[in-house]
Amino acid sequence: MYAYDKPYVVNPEASHESLEAKRPLLDNGLDSPHPERYYSPEFMKLEWRKLWPTVWLLAGVTSDIKEEGDYTVFDVGHESIVLVRQKAGDIRAFHNVCPHRGNKIALNDSGSVDRFTCAFHAWQFCLDGKLECITDEESFHPSVIAHRPGLSEVRCDSIGGLIFVNLDGKAPPLKEWIGLPAGYLENYEVDKMNVVRHVRTEWHGNWKVGVDAFYETYHLPHIHPQTQGVMEDYSQYDLYPNGFSRMIVPICTKSHRIEDQDTVSPDLMYMMQEAGMDPSAYQGTARGVRAAVQQAKRARAERLGLTHYEKFEDGQLTDSWATGLFPNVQIGMHPEGVFIMRFLPHPTEPERFYYDNITMFRHVDDKDYFVPGWMGLPKDTDITGATRPAIENYDINQRADLGPVLNQDVELVSAVQRASKSSGFKGPLWGEQEVRVRHFHRELDRVLGIKK
Ligand code: FES
Ligand SMILES: [Fe+2]
Repeated sequence: MYAYDKPYVVNPEASHESLEAKRPLLDNGLDSPHPERYYSPEFMKLEWRKLWPTVWLLAGVTSDIKEEGDYTVFDVGHESIVLVRQKAGDIRAFHNVCPHRGNKIALNDSGSVDRFTCAFHAWQFCLDGKLECITDEESFHPSVIAHRPGLSEVRCDSIGGLIFVNLDGKAPPLKEWIGLPAGYLENYEVDKMNVVRHVRTEWHGNWKVGVDAFYETYHLPHIHPQTQGVMEDYSQYDLYPNGFSRMIVPICTKSHRIEDQDTVSPDLMYMMQEAGMDPSAYQGTARGVRAAVQQAKRARAERLGLTHYEKFEDGQLTDSWATGLFPNVQIGMHPEGVFIMRFLPHPTEPERFYYDNITMFRHVDDKDYFVPGWMGLPKDTDITGATRPAIENYDINQRADLGPVLNQDVELVSAVQRASKSSGFKGPLWGEQEVRVRHFHRELDRVLGIKK
């Protein structure tokens, strides 16, 4: 049962201090917002003014820029930011704009340089943004360049292998702003994972329709019925300060909606095999698979010296801890790797967004250690981290194959987007399996100064 006043809890025995424990409910009211937020150009302008510049935005991952001079570019709306690893090992961020006439100083998504040389008139800048040289400097009136124009710096900080930028420079310190408890992100050691696939697709929808669609598993039995044999669709939903949230989606288990809870299906056998078990030797029923896989993964981690597993609850070894970083990111967190979803607004169209899928994997050099099937990686993918794959870009007219589950979501999002403008739609009615969606919109209202 999932009663509105008695929500589902994955592990009722979890101790109060455990990161798995159910968080106390938060009162976010029961109001429904006007659907104009999903299509109105004015609302989009308000977001460009009050949201995107004021928050911390996930701009990249530290393992993408391991060495001095490595850079990666983050584009959001009209802004382009370049993140650069410095000589001393720290990371700094700059507007990807040449102070001379505004050309981009980094033309590629990523790369490695000794210095930035603008392609237009070849001005040069050090990795720390300082002006190094002006071409034909003597042809400039000295007062025009007296301030020695360098790259314009953007506030930047990182936590647990994730790099964030704050465009207006006025947000609270990153550690205060992240609403999650200490260790929550860090325990996964994302800095030891590498991007093994990065796909960017353009969708027919407002970026918030995208966030909403991925913030609950209430739709799983209806839109993605194929997931029922391997995951529960009742999730544990937890709300954290500053619009952050989490859902725990139990995996390696059948949905409670399936009558036969005993027969071990081929899908569950596959999951046991992935964890290094011999499924033919398994004696129990389907009900016991999740716990058996957890034990097998813990034993394997011990054998391989993966000591950070000691910080994980058993549930974390199988379940997806889908973690929402306000405003536009959700990370499916697993010990083997993480799946980052980033919803980026279109610069001018409120009814379009870019959906970034970044798959990260921690390479373990052992013949019995497999890439989890949920990552859906193409066969020839380099999983060692030796090469950073280029972004696979698909514009609005191209249909990317994102796998069966995400392909279903593409259809869904465009239908919901269209309906948001219908005079017959009065605004969303959220149930308690959708508390994360409500929490996200309440925080958005707060940031935008919309009074309730
Ligand atoms: S625009 Fe960069 S050197 Fe001229
Ligand atoms: Fe979905």
